[in-house]
Amino acid sequence: YRSLRVALLGAGTVGAQVARLLLEESDELANRIGARLELVGIAVRDVDAPRDVDLPRELFTTDAERLILGADIVVELMGGLEPARSLVLQAIGSGADVVTANKALLATHGVEIFDLAEQVGAQVAYEAAVAGAIPIIRPLSESLAGDRVERIVAILNGTTNFILDRMDSTGETLEESLAIATELGYAEADPTADIEGYDAAQKAALLASLAFHTTVPLDQVHREGITTVDAAQVDSAKKQGYVVKLVAVCERVPGEDGTERISVRTHPALIDGRHPLAAVHGANNAVFVEAAAAGQLMFYGAGAGGPQTASAVLGDLVAVARRHVVGGPGLVASDHAALPIVPIGDICTSS
Ligand code: NDP
Ligand code: HSE
Repeated sequence: YRSLRVALLGAGTVGAQVARLLLEESDELANRIGARLELVGIAVRDVDAPRDVDLPRELFTTDAERLILGADIVVELMGGLEPARSLVLQAIGSGADVVTANKALLATHGVEIFDLAEQVGAQVAYEAAVAGAIPIIRPLSESLAGDRVERIVAILNGTTNFILDRMDSTGETLEESLAIATELGYAEADPTADIEGYDAAQKAALLASLAFHTTVPLDQVHREGITTVDAAQVDSAKKQGYVVKLVAVCERVPGEDGTERISVRTHPALIDGRHPLAAVHGANNAVFVEAAAAGQLMFYGAGAGGPQTASAVLGDLVAVARRHVVGGPGLVASDHAALPIVPIGDICTSS
């Protein structure tokens, strides 16, 4: 196989898991893509910092700008706006494709980044930026591209869902459960982004832009977090058969002059205990989509976490890499990947 040079920016909760999978699954990924993903280096702030995963020391560097030079694909998992923005623009400008999980970056500087990518013909993939492991970017931008999305109601932040869930089930305070969410790697580097609703608002802006084929600026998203929610409110809601959830709503609404407008908002809401959103526990997320022809669709799964988010990043990497390969295995399993098929009769008779 030919090699595609992959530069990884960041080896924290998500980046370390992406590096592990790239190294451990190297042969399998090469068979699926028809090219080998060669991890050429990992840029971090401190090469000696302890990592969740044991990774080869020689891969680490603090010189991200240099690492990007000559890369075919740059995977940005540093988070934050700068230097992530400059590095992503540099990568695209130098001919690389980009995979990122950075919703803050895309919701703030997406227009600049996607415009440059379009000019130079680069790919920017960001499935992991919204709802962790849940496939939702590609369903909205590809599978539903021919339909008319009317409304999205979603739980898009794992940390706040985890916190509200624990306030409800264990009686812990926001501070106590936030500390656990941080320890588990769910929270942002600055968890204000989670509890004040910035993270959910960024994700809602990205989803609404895709769903309604427009650009929703972040400052047009109404944002409320969960810092005003207290244990007494959670308890009172529970006694009346409700649960408190931080929801994101993206919908078409009639404007004053009769024209249609887009409304995008994030805020705590009382959810009827019988509604499927009430059953979204822990750091899970869920996205309900109402489309004119398709009707109601529901996407559910892990909204945060290192290995879970790494799954979405790897999926993007495979998709982006496949477009580099003419005559690669594509979407149908190649001979290399062929596994023995269990006869249907065996499945039916096994207990
Ligand atoms: P972490 O804070 O755990 O890791 C960030 C990594 O980036 C660290 O390795 C850090 O280096 C490196 N880094 C940060 N700033 C710089 C810099 N200026 N120069 C070089 N390296 C730098 O973040 P996460 O892994 O949790 O998140 C990464 C991205 O993924 C973010 O955009 C986040 O929003 C997104 N995301 C996270 C999810 C999660 O569950 N955690 C889920 C979905 C998306 P060092 O280790 O040396 O400090
Ligand atoms: N801090 C984010 C969350 C990570 O809790 O949902 C996933 O985007």
